[in-house]
Amino acid sequence: MLLVIPRVLGTRQLQQARALLDQGHFVDGRLSAGKSARRVKNNEELHANASQMQQLNALVMGALVDHPLYQAAALPHRVATPFYARYTPGMTYGDHVDDPIMGPPGGHYRTDVSTTVFLNEPEDYEGGELVVRTPFGEQRVKQPAGDAVVYPSSSLHHVAEVRAGERLVAVTWTQSMVRNPQQRELLYELYQTREALLEKQPDAEETTRIDHVYVNLVRMWAEL
Ligand code: NI
Repeated sequence: MLLVIPRVLGTRQLQQARALLDQGHFVDGRLSAGKSARRVKNNEELHANASQMQQLNALVMGALVDHPLYQAAALPHRVATPFYARYTPGMTYGDHVDDPIMGPPGGHYRTDVSTTVFLNEPEDYEGGELVVRTPFGEQRVKQPAGDAVVYPSSSLHHVAEVRAGERLVAVTWTQSMVRNPQQRELLYELYQTREALLEKQPDAEETTRIDHVYVNLVRMWAEL
């Protein structure tokens, strides 16, 4: 499942995030790449001082982790500190699959869900779509600033070459309580149905039963 979550960051948060990005400097993204990704990765990553990084992470991750759709779709157990990536003309990130295990020794986590948060507007650059291969074909994603997209970390994906302007994104990974992407997708469908029922007929017997099934499926499938 590839899911776009609109307006995770609001206008003010985006202004603050971009001001912080302006203060840092960017280094070659290959430094943080695994062995096979290094061959196809051509972008830059923010190298900021600790206080800028802390503020950025609080802004971006605070908003993402609090978002009910992210919670429902990713069912997060552990969430990684994000990277802030910049693509200028000629830069691209070729077809790859994200590393299965990330984090420092002692702080390892499994990557189940990949997230990109768009930090500038689609009009600010040409190209630069996130292209994810799904069972139903390629999905090309280029969203307004503040939107996030989540997709299974097991998917093959790439970032199309930026031909003009500058693409700014935050990328992060989640270890989900529910490892299996099909199970997460079913839970997300059921969650949406439950939300709609709670809205339309909160006192109906069917609503109680769907709620019961949803909650107990999460309990059955979640691993901590
Ligand atoms: Ni990737």
